[in-house]
Amino acid sequence: MQTIQVYYISLSGNTTSFLKNLDRYFQQEYQKKLKYVNVKNLVKDGKSLAFDIKKHYFAFLPSYLEGGNGIDTGDTEILTTPLRQLIAYSKNREYCLGIVGSGNRNFNKQFCLTAHQYAREFGFSVLDEFELKGTETDIKRIAEKMDRQLTEIPV
Ligand SMILES: Cc1cc2nc3c(=O)[nH]c(=O)nc-3n(C[C@H](O)[C@H](O)[C@H](O)COP(=O)(O)O)c2cc1C
Repeated sequence: MQTIQVYYISLSGNTTSFLKNLDRYFQQEYQKKLKYVNVKNLVKDGKSLAFDIKKHYFAFLPSYLEGGNGIDTGDTEILTTPLRQLIAYSKNREYCLGIVGSGNRNFNKQFCLTAHQYAREFGFSVLDEFELKGTETDIKRIAEKMDRQLTEIPV
């Protein structure tokens, strides 16, 4: 079974829960499975362990921003920077097939903002977004988009 690599962050478990369900869906519908690594667990003694990623992957990232409204204040990223460091390391950004943002719509204009900031900074696209743990509809739609991206990898 083909494995799809995902690097992500989850602090309160919503993104992990989404990825578990997405993995189940991929196995049932596409005969592919996800290998999802929570980059938060790669931090040792307060330092991120960055390494070369030599195969294509997707990034999943909830927004954790400090206060503000996302327009003129409050776009300081907190807690999710280990993923930023991993993607920024070496040529890792070049292997990213896109980022999926998550968040809470109560944050209005700041909804999923960090994923958009990464996309701009690192030069890949925001593949999609979902709220909290996501829904069945989100899973189906996002799986389709990821699968399409995989078929477009140049050989
Ligand atoms: C301190 C804090 C700041 C947050 N900031 C944002 C934000 O700016 N935009 C947004 O869409 N969601 C924001 N959220 C909501 C989280 O992104 C959302 O709960 C997400 O599902 C958390 O994912 P996780 O459970 O995988 O860690 C924030 C949550 C917390 C606790």
